[in-house]
Amino acid sequence: MKGIVLAGGIGSRLFPLTKATNKTLLPIGRFPMIYYPIMNMKQCGITEIMIVTNQLHIGDFASVFGSGSEYGVHIVYAVQEKALGIVDALKEARDFSYGDSMMLFLGDCIFEKPIHYFHTAYVQKQNGKGARVLLYEVPDPERFGVATIEGDLITEIEEKPKYPKSNFAVVGAYLYDQTAWDKIPHITPSARGEYEITSLNNMYIQERSMQYDVVQGKWFDAGTFQTLLDAGSVMMEVYDNSQKDL
Ligand code: G1P
Repeated sequence: MKGIVLAGGIGSRLFPLTKATNKTLLPIGRFPMIYYPIMNMKQCGITEIMIVTNQLHIGDFASVFGSGSEYGVHIVYAVQEKALGIVDALKEARDFSYGDSMMLFLGDCIFEKPIHYFHTAYVQKQNGKGARVLLYEVPDPERFGVATIEGDLITEIEEKPKYPKSNFAVVGAYLYDQTAWDKIPHITPSARGEYEITSLNNMYIQERSMQYDVVQGKWFDAGTFQTLLDAGSVMMEVYDNSQKDL
């Protein structure tokens, strides 16, 4: 399985913090935000990782991680030229992950606890086929992709619905088999002009091959000043001064 972390975008909600750097390099506790996705992947045994970012920041990521060898992973980099959505960024990883399954992470997706249960369930219950997402109950589902569930299956995901049908947000960590690459070319831009991850997810749902886990512990979408602070104080407790690095 390959790992892909998306770290593009201009981080406008966090201006002026993001004027000179990428959102995912801002601090969460002791580490730059993007350490956590890389750490989550490594804990799942995924060591072949691609970071997709923009032209402006690619050098900063190379300065932080280099080849990744210092961290026990192998990291390569790709550039997303325009911010046209999550699936548009993911397209940059096609050659890297073609023919293999993948764990896709949004760079601002922070979990309090390791997520190996998610990876294990995909491998054991789904034989590494279809797709699997993580759900987290939130008070404001209209800000997220929102899932409707039926037993083990997800039957619908709506992107930022005005009238959410549940409180289950789809968080920014996804598992896909290689059929994602057959589906992606059929995705068209949404009303806001983006190639949405929810469109890809709904293609798996149509095949009845989209399952889920509920997040264990806390989850943060660390894209606002408040969530940056909240995630920082929680992760400061999780990784104390004894933890020097990944
Ligand atoms: C994206 C996805 C959304 C998901 C969210 C999780 O939204 O489009 O489905 O629930 O990430 O953080 P964005 O944060 O890009 O608006």
